[in-house]
Formats: sequence, C-alpha cells, structure tokens
Amino acid sequence: TRTPVTVTVTGAGGQIGYALLFRAASGQLLGHDVPVNLRLLEIPQGRAAAEGTALELQDGAFPLVSSITVTEDATAAFDGVNIALLVGARPRGPGMERSDLLEANGAIFGPQGAAINTGAASDVRVLVVGNPANTNALIASAHAPDVPAERFTAMTRLDHNRAVAQLAAKLGVPVSAIDGLIVWGNHSASQYPDISHATVHGRPVTELVDEDWLAHEFIPRVAKRGAEIIEVRGSSSAASAASAAIDHVHDWVSGTGERWTSAGVVSDGSYGVPEGLVSSFPVRSAGGAWEVVQGLDIDAFSRARIDASVAELVEERDAVRALGLI
Ligand code: NAI
Repeated sequence: TRTPVTVTVTGAGGQIGYALLFRAASGQLLGHDVPVNLRLLEIPQGRAAAEGTALELQDGAFPLVSSITVTEDATAAFDGVNIALLVGARPRGPGMERSDLLEANGAIFGPQGAAINTGAASDVRVLVVGNPANTNALIASAHAPDVPAERFTAMTRLDHNRAVAQLAAKLGVPVSAIDGLIVWGNHSASQYPDISHATVHGRPVTELVDEDWLAHEFIPRVAKRGAEIIEVRGSSSAASAASAAIDHVHDWVSGTGERWTSAGVVSDGSYGVPEGLVSSFPVRSAGGAWEVVQGLDIDAFSRARIDASVAELVEERDAVRALGLI
C-alpha cells in the first residue's frame, strides 16, 4: 500500500472547504490509488463547522481516507504537509480599505507560510485560494524562505474554466474542443481572459468570434462571473471554486501533457511581468512543476490588458511591502 499524502485545507469549515474536502477524499485530487490524510485548519469561529464536515467525511466511508484531523494550530496542521490548500482568508468588511484587507490577510498568510517553512514535507505544493489570492501567495512565500518560490501558487483556474465554458457555449462545442485559452494577471476584476491563441478543434478561435463580442461580452462576463453567481445563487461560488482547486492541483501533480491551462505562478520575468510577482500565466505541467508557455506573440490589445492587471499586482506588492508584510 502507498504512503498517504497529507492534504491540509485551511478554512475547512467554510463553503469551499465543504465542497473541496469531499472531492479530495474521493480521489479526484491526487488519484484513485492515493490514500490521504486530511487536515482541517480553522479558527475558533469556524471550528464547529469544520468538526461537522469531519463527521460527514467519516460518514462518506472513503476507502482512500487514512485520517481526518481538525485543528486550530497551524504548526500541527502543516507538519509534514504535502499539499496545502490555503482557502481561509479574511473577506473585505464594510468600510475596509485595501490596506486593512492586505494587513488582515498578511496576519493569516505570513504565519501560515512560516508554519509551512518549518514543518512541511520537502515536496510541499501550495495553492492559495483565499483572496486576494495572488498577493496572499506572495506573502506566504516570503515567509517560507526554505521552500522554493515555485511551490507557492494562486488560483486563477476558476477564471480559466469560466472562460473556457463561456467560449464553448458561444461556439456550441464541448469544452474539451477548446485549447490555448489564457487568463493573465491578477485574480480580480482586472484579469485578462485571452482568446488570441485559443483554438477550437485546432482552428483559431479569433476566426470565429468578433471583437465586439470579445471586448463587450466575453471579457466582462468572465471577470464578473463571481458577482453573477452571488446574484443568482444567493451566495458565492463554492463548488465551482473547489472544482477549480481540484483541477489545479491534479494537473500540477499529474501533468497536463501538451494542453495549456492558467495558474498564478511566480514570475521569472516572462512576458514583461516583473520577476517575483505571483501572476497568472499560460502554463503546462510536467514532472510535478509548472512551466510557463513561452514564445507567444502578444498583440497590442492583449498587451494593454496584461499590463493593467500586472500593474495592480505591483501595487498590491508595494502595499504589502510598505506594511512590512513581505
Ligand atoms: P467562507 O467564509 O465560507 O469560508 C472561509 C473559512 O475560512 C471560514 O470558515 C473561516 O472561519 C476560515 N478562516 C478564516 N481565517 C482563517 C485562518 N486564519 N485559518 C483557518 N481558517 C480561517 O468562504 P469561502 O466561500 O469558502 O471562500 C474562501 C475564500 O476563497 C475567500 O477568500 C474567497 O474570496 C476565496 N475565493 C477565491 C476564488 C479564486 O478563484 N481564487 C474563488 C472563490 C472564492
């Protein structure tokens, strides 16, 4: 039998945690032959909900689940962790300025990064879901100097999946027919879903859609999809966010082959994105590591939108630097 992989989910008592943990338990995260230790990290307010989720996980009688632990102690939660899913974050409250939001999240992601640095397994892979995800990943990474920065990633896969789904619906094709779509930049309203390299059944998508649809329907629809879900469902996207987190980690560990996806990864300076920022790029995964797809032509329309989203990431980085959080 294989050694269990330790998966830690923060914010485990929340909405996304509730959806995510069951899929991790069922084998959809790491494979149907990989046993898992599930660690659920919460704060006191969320502890009871996490305990309830743990009871239900037990009732799932998942053959792959080796253990389930609920804790409020980050050191215990991340001890020996292989896969860290950082979902719990501080949401923006009424009247909260951006600097307050960054500071409150710095107080979460700094210590969690430090606990990962101290206790994590040498192969640890971190996905930050909690917003502002890109900058929270940057903060966590800055507190984990012994963990390669490439192991800290931020989730833009939900944006990517939303963009693929919108495009497939527009073209009347299955999502599997679409490749080469990219989400660039920050996981925020400034993100840029880019179809300029996308293909459908191998044919360039740009031959099939007009620029008006692109600029006035597709891009805003994808960027504002979170708000649309809240309006229709009455609460924020949780199952689709959990599904995207599963996709991100599954692809990271298992590989993508030649197909592309999007992920927030630390920039090496590719495409003019300042080195060290955690920004969304077109990526493939091989051998358990993300690699940015290189050599793409970036037209003026794309350049302006990538630059605008990256400028927002620079501002967030400068703000957390000024606050002493990195
Ligand atoms: P939620 O409010 O239902 O759950 C969050 C949980 O995190 C709560 O139970 C809370 O007690 C817990 N928590 C807060 N601070 C914590 C800490 N220091 N340690 C451990 N747990 C902590 O929220 P939901 O819907 O599950 O969303 C979670 C986060 O994911 C939010 O920040 C949301 O904005 C973000 N999100 C990100 C997406 C992305 O595409 N990157 C998509 C959707 C949501």
